[in-house]
Amino acid sequence: MTEAASNRGGSPAAKLLCLRAAEAAWNLSASHCNTDCKTYHKIRPLLRCLGLTAEPADQAAFFNSSMTEALHLGARDILVCGTSDTAMPELILAIADAASVPVRLHIVDVCQTPGELARRCIQPEPSSLRTETSDILCRAHADQFDVIVTHSLLGQFSPETRPALFAKWHQLLRPDGRVITVNRIKTFGEVRSYDNATAEALAHEVVKKYKDGKLNTNIAPEELHGAVMDYCENRASFAVSSTKQIMDLCTGAGLEILTLDAQKGKSRSAGLRGPALPDGATYCHLVARKPKNLQGH
Ligand SMILES: C[S@@+](CC[C@H](N)C(=O)[O-])C[C@H]1O[C@@H](n2cnc3c(N)ncnc32)[C@H](O)[C@@H]1O
Repeated sequence: MTEAASNRGGSPAAKLLCLRAAEAAWNLSASHCNTDCKTYHKIRPLLRCLGLTAEPADQAAFFNSSMTEALHLGARDILVCGTSDTAMPELILAIADAASVPVRLHIVDVCQTPGELARRCIQPEPSSLRTETSDILCRAHADQFDVIVTHSLLGQFSPETRPALFAKWHQLLRPDGRVITVNRIKTFGEVRSYDNATAEALAHEVVKKYKDGKLNTNIAPEELHGAVMDYCENRASFAVSSTKQIMDLCTGAGLEILTLDAQKGKSRSAGLRGPALPDGATYCHLVARKPKNLQGH
C-alpha cells in the first residue's frame, strides 16, 4: 500500500498534521473534554507523534483492503465511531482519496475534543466532514451509514454493554452496510492498566523522544512527565479476551461475519507494555455485514 494510504509517520504533511493535532489537543482538553477523558485526549496525539501509542495505521493494510472493497461496492457514508484523535479520519480519507471515491465522513465521539481536532487540523477541511458529540449508545438512528469503522473501541465498553453497542451498529447501518473494526485481544493475565514502573518508563521515554525530536510545538517539556503519569493513572480498558466473544456479539446483533481473524500487531514501543502500547499484542480484524433482508432486526 502507498504511504499516503498508510499515513504512518510518512510524509512531511502527515507529520505536520499530527503535530498540529498534538498541540491543539494539549490546549483544548481543559475546555472541551469531559472530566473523565481530559488526561487521555490531552496527550494521545502527542504519543502518536512520538510513535508511542497504537493507532489505526498499524493495521493499514487491513483497513485499506476492507475499506477499498466497500468503497468499490458503493459505500459513501462512513461513520467513524469514536476516535481519540485525527488518526482514523486521516486514514479513511487517505484510503478514499487513493481509490478516487468521494466520501461523506461522519465522526461521533462522546467527547467534543476529537471532532474539534478534525475540524481544526484536517486541511483542507473536507466539506463533507460532519462531527457530532454523543454517546453512541444513546444516538438516534435517523440517518444511516454504509460503513461504521472503529479501532480499539470495544475496550471502552464493559462486556455487559457491548451487545447494546453491536445492536446500535446494526440500527445505524443500511442493509448490506459493514462494520470494519480492529480490536486488541487480551488473553488472561495481560494488563489492562499501567503499573507505576511502566508509567514512569513511558513518561521517561516520552520526555526523551520529545526533546530529542526537537518538536516544534508550544507544549512545555517540563509539563510532559506529569501529563503522561496522569494519562497512565486514569487509563484502563475492558479486555476482549477472544475472537469468539466478537463472533457472539455479531451473531447476537444479527450481523453476518465476512472476515474475522487475529494477528500479531507491530512491535514499536521500546519494549514497554500496557494499554494502547502495541508491543507484541494480538489484534483481531473484523468485517461484518448487516444482511440485506433483515432490516427490522
Ligand atoms: C476509538 S477508542 C480507542 C482509540 C483508537 N485507537 C482510535 O482510533 O482513536 C477511543 C475513543 O472512543 C470514545 N468513546 C468512548 N466511549 C464512547 C461512546 N460511548 N460513544 C462515543 N464515543 C466513545 C472516546 O471518547 C475516545 O475518543
